[in-house]
Amino acid sequence: MGELLHNTAALDAAYHMAIYARKPVMFVRGDGVRLYDDDGREYLDFVSGIGAVNLGHAHPAVAAAIAEQSAKLVHVSNLFHVEHRAHLAEVVATLAGGGRKVFFANSGTESVEGAIKLARRWGKLGKGEDCYRIVTAQRSFHGRTLGALSATAQPSKQEAFVPLLPGFLHVPLNDLSALEAIVDDTVCAVMLEVVQGEGGVHPCTPGYLTAVRRLCDERGVLLVLDEIQTGFFRTGPAFAHQSFGIEADIMTLAKSMANGLPIGAVVATDEVAAAFKPGDHGSTFGGGPVVCAAALATIHALGEERLGDRAIVVGAYLKQRLVELAEKTGEITDVRGLGLMVAVQLTRPVATLVAERALGAGIVLNNIGDSVIRFLPPLVCKEAEIDTLLGTLEAVFGEV
Ligand SMILES: Cc1ncc(COP(=O)(O)O)c(C=O)c1O
Repeated sequence: MGELLHNTAALDAAYHMAIYARKPVMFVRGDGVRLYDDDGREYLDFVSGIGAVNLGHAHPAVAAAIAEQSAKLVHVSNLFHVEHRAHLAEVVATLAGGGRKVFFANSGTESVEGAIKLARRWGKLGKGEDCYRIVTAQRSFHGRTLGALSATAQPSKQEAFVPLLPGFLHVPLNDLSALEAIVDDTVCAVMLEVVQGEGGVHPCTPGYLTAVRRLCDERGVLLVLDEIQTGFFRTGPAFAHQSFGIEADIMTLAKSMANGLPIGAVVATDEVAAAFKPGDHGSTFGGGPVVCAAALATIHALGEERLGDRAIVVGAYLKQRLVELAEKTGEITDVRGLGLMVAVQLTRPVATLVAERALGAGIVLNNIGDSVIRFLPPLVCKEAEIDTLLGTLEAVFGEV
């Protein structure tokens, strides 16, 4: 361990709340799929800062947009018009299918808070005071603030903080009968991730998503899709649900929207958005000039470089290579995911060790619990880099 990393780790231990189990590596520079540590050592990044850098590290267009705007004006509040914010709202609403309004937040969990408030407001206004409950899927992840944590159906993350916000119901994913049985007049919304991310990369089946959309329409309930991890071309289309031929009433966004700067968004149909009245919600920093300039540059480059198409092609290649690895090593029982959001289920509880060894070999991986490894590379990832990953994985499986 170099001196800089040693000193930084000591400061972290002395002054940070012990919430994160940090790895003994410090990245100081990035370029596309590559990261470099303080010793100048190169790594391939298969996590993208947990799905937040779809365009790859240090993209020149995003860097230029940040530099230009930050030299002009960094903050003015939401009490005034901001040119980039207005353009970004138009771009996001259009990507989402048009006929939509946007609210900018600063993170995923904040976007989910906004969506919960909007769904409740819509339910109460249209259907009465008792219409405020929201159904989410077991194993879902929607964030860590108290509202979003109440939506997050993972007891291990919730238990230490009860009592949570009332009014959340949880059903198994891809089980339509369970949903049909629970959606009554007190329910204002069903909220789902199109592919559960933190829960282990579990996609909704296409039949389930279309049936949920139909059920929501029949019962007059909103469909809220949390596209925080799946959004911005991660699975191919701009938003993952667009490959299923359905629309969301409310969508939550964050992560890769500004390629690593903090921003989130609630996107709702005009009709649903109208439930929010002036003063119902707000944010000091949401939609600031710098982050909106970065987001505009990010979304433009994602489209120009056709990275949604690349996510489909390279994602299929990654899955195929992982299936071959499963057959060769017997270490993998399942390969799943959509586009470049992929995971493997291991036969042995060695995921932490595999990620640790891979890091030592120059590959950044993310394990979910003991038996799942998740792959979320920047969408600029190439087949040759997947080959390097697979070579390392095979060697690491042989060691652990
Ligand atoms: C689907 C989903 N929703 C919400 C969140 C919370 O986002 P943030 O960490 O920006 O608050 C995440 C983060 O992993 C996520 O994957």
